[in-house]
Amino acid sequence: MEKTGILVVSYGAREAAIIDTIQQSLEYRPEIYVVDKQKNPFNVRKAKEHVVIPDLNVNKILKFVIRRKGKIDFGIVGPEKPIINGLRDSIERETEIPIICPTKKYALEASKVAQRELFEKTVPNANPRFKVFDPANYKTTIEVKKAVYLWLDELSNQAVVKPDVPAAGKGVGVWGDHFNTRRQLFDHFLSNYIHGKVIIEEKIEGEESSFQAFCDGKNLTPLPETRDYKRAFDGDQGPNTGGMGSYKDTDTLLPFMLAEDRDKEIEIVHRIFNSLRSQNSGDQLRGVPFYVAFIHTAKGPKILENNSRPGDPEIINILPLLKDDFIDICFKMIEGNLTRVRFDRKASVVTYQAPPTYGGYSKTFPEDVDQEQIGKPTKLENAYKLVQETSGNIRVYPASMELRGSEVYALTSRAIAVVGVGETIQEARELSLKGINAIEGGSLWHRTDIASSEHIKRSINHMQELRLDNR
Ligand code: GLY
Repeated sequence: MEKTGILVVSYGAREAAIIDTIQQSLEYRPEIYVVDKQKNPFNVRKAKEHVVIPDLNVNKILKFVIRRKGKIDFGIVGPEKPIINGLRDSIERETEIPIICPTKKYALEASKVAQRELFEKTVPNANPRFKVFDPANYKTTIEVKKAVYLWLDELSNQAVVKPDVPAAGKGVGVWGDHFNTRRQLFDHFLSNYIHGKVIIEEKIEGEESSFQAFCDGKNLTPLPETRDYKRAFDGDQGPNTGGMGSYKDTDTLLPFMLAEDRDKEIEIVHRIFNSLRSQNSGDQLRGVPFYVAFIHTAKGPKILENNSRPGDPEIINILPLLKDDFIDICFKMIEGNLTRVRFDRKASVVTYQAPPTYGGYSKTFPEDVDQEQIGKPTKLENAYKLVQETSGNIRVYPASMELRGSEVYALTSRAIAVVGVGETIQEARELSLKGINAIEGGSLWHRTDIASSEHIKRSINHMQELRLDNR
């Protein structure tokens, strides 16, 4: 068999995991061309060619691809920014190399307002009550303040504030978590409103799950459920982050979910998919156009938001468990005949480590930061050894990390993800933490309660209480 050239557009650990999975497809003899946000030490080692384009600018990536035409068979894009900016459209137009991600038109995460309006038409029961505050409609701050307060009256203050444009989850503010007074809420609102439209929606009480599906444009292939940990600190405290870790159970469900919850999720996503398909979307919804954060309530799942890319870290829970060859899956997504994906019946847990400044850790827990280690290189050798020793039941994926000479340095965002794979969630968790504890230097920190049995029990009890209250 000839070699298969694959472009991977990379942001962090999610794409390191994709690259690792591609490399398991020995039969295809993959050669990987990586366009990366930074000199990721893992990707540099695995790539046939590795180039850093820090802003992941579409034109710069396109130039890289045009120069390699004939060598690249297809591409995969992980991060949202180039998807939203139309990378697939440009590459396919200029080179005819198929790219796995949605086109610009179907990058639903470009606008939270457009998403909410789409869900209102297609799945109104899964949409929380919401109102859009558009600067074009209000002449003064006093005027918009009055409108916001009237809406807060209707919601009894139980509100979530979201900017229209993506802010990696960080522009979102929640009543009771990020603010406790209307004044604080309005300050947060204004800090987003000066940049454009802001949504204020009903705060939904429940337990969160992440739904993802591969899509070839014609068929949706749901992937097992995962649970993300968005808040920075243990006990779900602190600011929202990109996600500090995640878990997956041995089955497709999460421990607090019922089979009917999953059925409802699948039905909801199918309805959205069908409405977009009826606009003749063709294969434009290829990739993971539906990574939906659901919140489970006693009255069924509600949509927190949709992203048009794989979840980070959630896809990292899933890739190590694929039974089918990932490059086969990619070709099927391109050809429009992906109808089934098989998985090992195993659990997985991802834990992220981050540098002291991330999530405000060093301000909140100054006494826990080893000042001498700040800015020092991080040593990954012992963690990598565990990957070999456990035959891949521990996997180590650098994210916001940079190779300088022979040393590796953590940058400013989530630095490194460690996956544990096991027969149970707790076994997977132990392996993930074993890998994390083998990482040295750089004063990195992590949440210690990702997938802990106490945290999972709380979720189960919470859902039971909500279901009882609803009877
Ligand atoms: N885990 C959050 C995200 O991928 O947006």
